[in-house]
Amino acid sequence: MGKRESFKSSFGVFAAAVGSAVGLGNIWRFPYITGMNGGAAFILVYLICVAIIGLPVLLSEFVIGRKGKTNPIDSFKSLAPQGKWYISGILGIMSAFLILAFYSVIAGWTLEYLTKAIGNQFVGKDVAEIGAMFENFIADPKRTIFWQFIILGLTCYIVANGIEKGIEKYSSFLVPALIVIIIILDIRAITLPGGKMGLDFLFKPDFSKVNGKVILDALGHSFFSLSLGAGTMITYGSYIKGNEKLGTSALSIALADTLIAILAGIAIFPVVFAFGIEPNSGPGLVFVTLPNVFPQISGGYIFAVLFFLLLTLAAITSTISMLEAVVSFGIDKFKLSRKKAAIISTILIFIVGVFASLSNGPLKDISFFGNNFLDFLDKLTANYFMTIGSLITIIFVGWKLNKKIIEEQLTNGGMIESNYMRTYYFVARYISPIAIIIVFLASIGILG
Ligand code: TRP
Repeated sequence: MGKRESFKSSFGVFAAAVGSAVGLGNIWRFPYITGMNGGAAFILVYLICVAIIGLPVLLSEFVIGRKGKTNPIDSFKSLAPQGKWYISGILGIMSAFLILAFYSVIAGWTLEYLTKAIGNQFVGKDVAEIGAMFENFIADPKRTIFWQFIILGLTCYIVANGIEKGIEKYSSFLVPALIVIIIILDIRAITLPGGKMGLDFLFKPDFSKVNGKVILDALGHSFFSLSLGAGTMITYGSYIKGNEKLGTSALSIALADTLIAILAGIAIFPVVFAFGIEPNSGPGLVFVTLPNVFPQISGGYIFAVLFFLLLTLAAITSTISMLEAVVSFGIDKFKLSRKKAAIISTILIFIVGVFASLSNGPLKDISFFGNNFLDFLDKLTANYFMTIGSLITIIFVGWKLNKKIIEEQLTNGGMIESNYMRTYYFVARYISPIAIIIVFLASIGILG
C-alpha cells in the first residue's frame, strides 16, 4: 500500500475542514431555524451546544482519524479490534452517503437560483409570483435532476483529484472567496435603512422563547453544521500530519463555522426586517423571501448574484467532504483507485439522490413516516444516525480509548503543551455524552 495522502499545509487543513463545516447549514439552514426559533436566544443556546458538545466531538473525531490513519470504520477497528465501536463508522459512512443524496438536491437549487439571479429573473414579480416560481421549480424533475447531476459531477471531479490536488487546492481558494462575499453582503445589509431591527433580532435575546424544541434544534444543528457524526472529520483527521495541533485546529474550525453562520444571519435579517417581512418563513427564506427583496434594494442585482454564488460555493466545499468519507472507505475496502471509487460512489449516490429530487414533484405523495423522501433522509440522518454516531464516538474517546493515546494526539507525542487535556477529558467523559443522551431521548419523545 502506498503512503497515505495528507494535507500539505496547516492552512489547507483549516480550509478543507472549514469548507466542510460551512455550507448550506450555515447560510440556508441556520438563518431560517434561527428565524423560526425566535432569534438571539436560540443563537445563545446554539453557542452552548457548540462549546460543550460540538467542539469535543470534533476534536474526538480528529483524534480517532489521525491515530487510526484510515477510513472511519477501520479507524475504530484498528483502535479497538475487539469491540463493536466500528458501528459508529458504519453509521457515519451511511450518513455521509444519505446526506449527500439530499444535500445535492438543495445545492442544485442554489445553482438554478444563481442562473435566475444572473438572468435578472426576480425583477418585476410580486410575492405570489416568486413563491410560485420556487414551487414550480422544485417540482420540476428535469431541472432539479439536471442541477443535482452538475453538483455531483463537480464534487466527483474534485474528489477524484485527491487530497492535496483536489480537496485542499479547491478549498484553499473557495473558502476565502466565500468569506469575502459574505462580508460584502453584510456591509450592504447593515447599511440598509431599517435594518437595525434585524440586528436586534439576532443579538437581543428573549429568554421566554427558549423551550425544549429550541434546545433540540440547536443541538441537532450543531452536529450538522460542524459535519459531525458522519465520518467526515474522522476521514479528514486521517490526512492531518503529525505536527499539526489538533486542539487549535478544532477550536479555530468551530469558531470559524459559528462566526460564518452569524455573518450569514447579519447578511439576511436586516434585509428581511427592512422590508417588514416575518423572519420565520422557514426553508423558503433564502429562495423566496430574499429574491423578493433583492430587486428593491440598490445594487440588488449584483447582491443577488453574489448571494447565490456564495451559497453554491459553500455547498460544494461541503459536498466534497461527504463524498470523501464514502470514497476513502471505497479505496481502502475494495482496493479501488481513487478515481474509480469516486465515480462509483457518485453514481450510487446519484441513484438515491434522484428520488430525493423527485420527492418534491412526481413522488411527493409517497410518505415516509409523514415526510417526503428528502425530508425523511434529513431527519433520519440528523436525528438518529449522526446523533448516535457522535454519541458512540465521544463515549469511545472518553471511556474506551487509552488515555495515553489521547494525550499523545493532543501533544503530538510530547512535542507541544496541551493544557486543556483535563478539561477536554472531563467533558468528553461526562458532559457531552449525558447532554447528547438527554437531548436524544427528548427528541424521540421519551423525555418531556
Ligand atoms: N456542515 C455542512 C453544512 O453546514 C454540511 C456537511 C458537510 C455535513 N459534511 C457533513 C453535515 C457531514 C453532516 C455530516 O452545510
